[in-house]
Amino acid sequence: MPLLDLSAVPHVALSFMNDDHATATELANQLHAEIALAQDTNNTAKITELLTELYQHNVEHFAREELQMVDAAFPPYDCHKGEHERVLAQMQDVLSTWQKEHDLSQLSHYLSDVMIPWFIQHINTMDTVTAMFISRQQR
Ligand SMILES: [Fe+2]
Ligand SMILES: [Fe+2]
Repeated sequence: MPLLDLSAVPHVALSFMNDDHATATELANQLHAEIALAQDTNNTAKITELLTELYQHNVEHFAREELQMVDAAFPPYDCHKGEHERVLAQMQDVLSTWQKEHDLSQLSHYLSDVMIPWFIQHINTMDTVTAMFISRQQR
């Protein structure tokens, strides 16, 4: 069972953002599946690879949103960008702790109880408002 079903991810008014959210969902589900397998397999390297890929995807996904916000002169740009920066710093901490400790339950807790709830809440609030503002300008 996936950690997050794509049908539970809110849709926003810009397709490039929906595409990025679908990619992030897919990577989070792959990571969740590898964590579940880790009791039986030695897949630490695969988990590190997927966590790094998810981090890198977010760097690019957030940068695409920020570029569009700058182009559209979106007034709460600083607030939205600040939230992206906070989450990237947190993910970097999680990645370096994982690489030192290989603590599966800590990583699983972060993914299920911190990252996914944040992801849904962020799309429902900042991404939704941003996409609406930019899509109205593009009409
Ligand atoms: Fe987003
Ligand atoms: Fe965002």
